[in-house]
Amino acid sequence: MKLFDVYPINPINIVKGQGSLVYDAHGTEYLDMYGGHAVISIGHTHPHYVKRLEDQLHQLGFYSNSIEIPIQKELATLLGKVSGKDDYQLFMCNSGAEANENALKLASFYNGKKKVIAFRKSFHGRTSLAVAVTDNPKIVAPINETDNVIFLPWADEAALAQAFADNEISSVIIEGIQGVGGIQVAPESFLQKIRSLCDEHNAVFIADSVQCGYGRTGKFFSQDFAGVNADIYTMAKGMGNGFPVGGIIISPKIQPAYGMLGTTFGGNHLACAAGLAVLEIMEQDNLMLNAATIGEYLIKELKKLEQVKEVRGRGLMIGIELPEELAHVRKELLFKHHIFTGEAKPNVVRLLPALNLTKAHADRFLEAFVNVLNQ
Ligand SMILES: Cc1ncc(COP(=O)(O)O)c(C=O)c1O
Repeated sequence: MKLFDVYPINPINIVKGQGSLVYDAHGTEYLDMYGGHAVISIGHTHPHYVKRLEDQLHQLGFYSNSIEIPIQKELATLLGKVSGKDDYQLFMCNSGAEANENALKLASFYNGKKKVIAFRKSFHGRTSLAVAVTDNPKIVAPINETDNVIFLPWADEAALAQAFADNEISSVIIEGIQGVGGIQVAPESFLQKIRSLCDEHNAVFIADSVQCGYGRTGKFFSQDFAGVNADIYTMAKGMGNGFPVGGIIISPKIQPAYGMLGTTFGGNHLACAAGLAVLEIMEQDNLMLNAATIGEYLIKELKKLEQVKEVRGRGLMIGIELPEELAHVRKELLFKHHIFTGEAKPNVVRLLPALNLTKAHADRFLEAFVNVLNQ
C-alpha cells in the first residue's frame, strides 16, 4: 500500500531530537525554528516528558471516559493555575480542529443560534465546522459549505457591529494571532469589541488558541493581551509537545449536560501525562518568560534588517515578511544552514520554535538568516 499523497514534503528523514535540535538519518544536525509546526513547546525528548510518559505507559495507557480518570482532574487543576483561568472547565479532545468543532457546537447548544462570524485569512482546521469557518475555499469540500458562516474583514469594527445588527450570531471565532494567515496580531481594541458585542447579543466569544496559545506569546493565551476573557479557548499543538492532545476550556457561564460532548480517545491517561509534563516544565522553567524575552530579542534584531519588509508577532510566534525576490530564503535556510522554519503565503517566514529556545540558538538563526539575505 502506498501513502495518500497530500503533503508536499522535503526529502529529509528526521530520526532524533533533543531540545531545539533535530537530526536526520545521516546524523546531520538541524536547528528547529519551526517546532514541528508550533507543536514542540518544551523541546524534543525533554527528559521529564519522556519519563512521565514512560511511567504512565507502564501503569495504564488508556481507559475510556466511562470511569474516573484522576489524572484528567490533575491536568485541569494545573492548567487552571498556569493559564490563570482556574474557574473555567476543561473538555479534552485530540486535535485543534476537533477543539474548534466542539467549541462551535457548544456555543450553538448554549444559545440555540446558528450563525458564526469568522475572519478573512482565518485557519481553524479541516473537519466540517472547523473548515467551514476557515477562509480557504480550496480545502472546503461541497459537503462542508454552509450559509451559517459570515466572513468579515480582519479587524474591521464597523463590519463586526453591522454583522451583529443584521444577524442572530451564535459565536465569533478568532485567532489571537493568525498563523496560516501570515502572523497577523489581532488588535486589542478589536478583541475588546468582540467581547462587548458578544455580551450585548448573548453570543459566544471563541478564542482559537491552537497555534498562538499555550504560552507561545509570553502570555498563556495571546488574546489575554486585550485584558478581556473569551468564553471558550481552544487548544492543541503545544499542549502535548507532540502527543496528540487538544482541548477547550469553557467559561463557568456555560453549563455542561451529559452527552453534550464526548470522545473515545480525548483525555486518556497517556495524553494527560503528556499534558501534565508540558505544564510542569512550563512552570518549573518559566518558559512563558523565556518565550517573551527571546521573542522580543529576535523581533528587535529582525527589524534592523533592511531587506525585510515587515516583522510581526509576539513572543515566539514571529512572521518575517520578505519581498518576492527573496522567496528562496526558507529553502536556503533549510538546505544550506540546516534550519527549519515555517511559511505563510505569499512570502512570510514563520518562526514557531520551542518555548525554551536559547539565546545562542536565536543567534545561530539570526546569523544564518543575515547570511542568506546578503547572498
Ligand atoms: C489556529 C489553528 N486552529 C486550528 C488548527 C487545526 O489544528 P489540527 O491540525 O490539530 O486539527 C490549526 C492548525 O494548524 C491552527 O493553526
